[in-house]
Amino acid sequence: MTNRDKLNQLIDLRVKAKLGGGEKRIASQHAKGKYTARERVDMLLDEGSFEEYDMFKEHRCTNFGMEKQQFLGDGVVAGSGTIDGRVVYVFAQDFTVFGGSLSETMAEKICKIMDMAMKVGAPVIGLNDSGGARIQEGIQSLGGYSEIFQRNIMASGVVPQISAIMGPCAGGAVYSPALTDFIFMTQQNSYMFLTGPKVVKTVTGEDITADDLGGARVHSSKSGVAHFVAETEEECLMNIRKLLTFIPQNNMEEPIATSCVDSIERNEDVLNEIIPDSASKPYDMTNVISLIVDDGDFFEVHKDYAKNIVVGFAKMGGMPVGVVANQPMFLAGVLDIEASRKGARFVRFCDAFNIPLVTLVDVPGFLPGSTQEYGGVIAHGAKLLFAYGEATVPKVTVTLRKSYGGAHIVMSSKQLRGDINYAWPSAEIAVMGAEGAVEVLYAKEVVALETDEAKAAKAAEKKDEYNKLFATPYQAAKYGFIDDVIEPRSTRFRVIRALQRLQTKRETNPLRKHCNIPL
Ligand code: HXC
Repeated sequence: MTNRDKLNQLIDLRVKAKLGGGEKRIASQHAKGKYTARERVDMLLDEGSFEEYDMFKEHRCTNFGMEKQQFLGDGVVAGSGTIDGRVVYVFAQDFTVFGGSLSETMAEKICKIMDMAMKVGAPVIGLNDSGGARIQEGIQSLGGYSEIFQRNIMASGVVPQISAIMGPCAGGAVYSPALTDFIFMTQQNSYMFLTGPKVVKTVTGEDITADDLGGARVHSSKSGVAHFVAETEEECLMNIRKLLTFIPQNNMEEPIATSCVDSIERNEDVLNEIIPDSASKPYDMTNVISLIVDDGDFFEVHKDYAKNIVVGFAKMGGMPVGVVANQPMFLAGVLDIEASRKGARFVRFCDAFNIPLVTLVDVPGFLPGSTQEYGGVIAHGAKLLFAYGEATVPKVTVTLRKSYGGAHIVMSSKQLRGDINYAWPSAEIAVMGAEGAVEVLYAKEVVALETDEAKAAKAAEKKDEYNKLFATPYQAAKYGFIDDVIEPRSTRFRVIRALQRLQTKRETNPLRKHCNIPL
């Protein structure tokens, strides 16, 4: 063989590898409205930046005549590339090769890039499209999954890990995405479940479609497993790129600040009027967020899940921040099991990756009732409390209206090491609302009165007295629990200035093996 022949052989092998499972299966993938693994990687990364590894790797299975079915690279495309010039490691399961099912060799490829990502401190992005464990291999495939899971666990909080579900993701295979920081799904073709519809029918008798069991709608709104849903694969991949603009490469780096053209001194007069005079009237918290962040650009996480709390990323004065805000439009912004879990997970992500937290408070309390108590609201609420108390990143809090009881403490209060706590003049910071307080303190006195008019008048008088004392920010300000009462219109400027002053903040937690957050 001449050197020219050897070169041609390499070129031929590369062409063959790039065909994955072959033209027919590629066509079938396209017919389902799906892109191939390589097309996805190309769309995700900066043009021409992909460096592929293990293109010539082959599976080693000899069961069921498998040795006669070989595809170069096996069922995953893996390597490194850049997104906006920053290095990322990426793997994309190739459904055209044995349905993207995971073989031992595929697991080795995935583990290799995860190890490299850990060495250099770069994010790992996994594009999932797989029929699960490679059935012909059996236990080797399960071993492969375990190797990946172990690496997911070790990488957690060290490098960002992002999963996109762009096809099936079933059985124990769901646990790799579940161990990562963010899961993206697409409206069509994307589903995740531990046991598929057929097994469900056999075991429980329940008749359910794959979509109703584990489609994007279900996981983004009911289970909360998925953080983002996109209409198309293109949109999904672009959203992954966008997410990375808010996140540092690893836990030792700060998120990258960009130049900010939006004036940091921008006052928003409309904020002075945004709180309705009636305490029970809602307003949309996302409007407040849009008005105070750079260019009104808010990248919401978990948009359709636990809508009573809003979480997401934005920039303020060019600095990436994580925003957590109660949403009066849903359940009056009350904290419940789902909101607590959603908020806690987000706060912990931000803290792990040095992203400052901006918390906007309007919370009437925790949702009362047996459903919540039986569901363990005590333990779930404690997660959010724990997450805020544990976080050492800069924490700036603004109380807009209600901030009552335990929920007041949880939402980044001063005593949970809130660095700067502002309140608007409309803030009401107290143990509970006037209604409940008067009921507890004056019920006997009110009931003892003879006429209904007299009872109503007494209750109103007591409520008024209570509100004058507590439905203000000044009791809290008097004790230094609130650092300043600010004009709503100046919120953007005040929060950015606080963040700027906190940039060099250093705070550490005691040394320990790990904390024991109430899971
Ligand atoms: C080997 C597989 C495979 C698998 C699919 N294929 N899944 N090969 N192992 N797990 C192959 C098919 O034989 C077929 O090969 C090709 O991939 C495409 O599959 P189709 O069935 O034709 O595609 P489609 O109709 O789109 O259906 C996709 C599917 C279905 C829903 C994923 O293939 C399916 O149900 N697969 C089995 C899923 C499953 O039960 N996996 C094990 C779960 S348990 P050809 O040669 O015809 O192209 C598990 C445990 C993991 O994963 C535990 C981890 C801890």
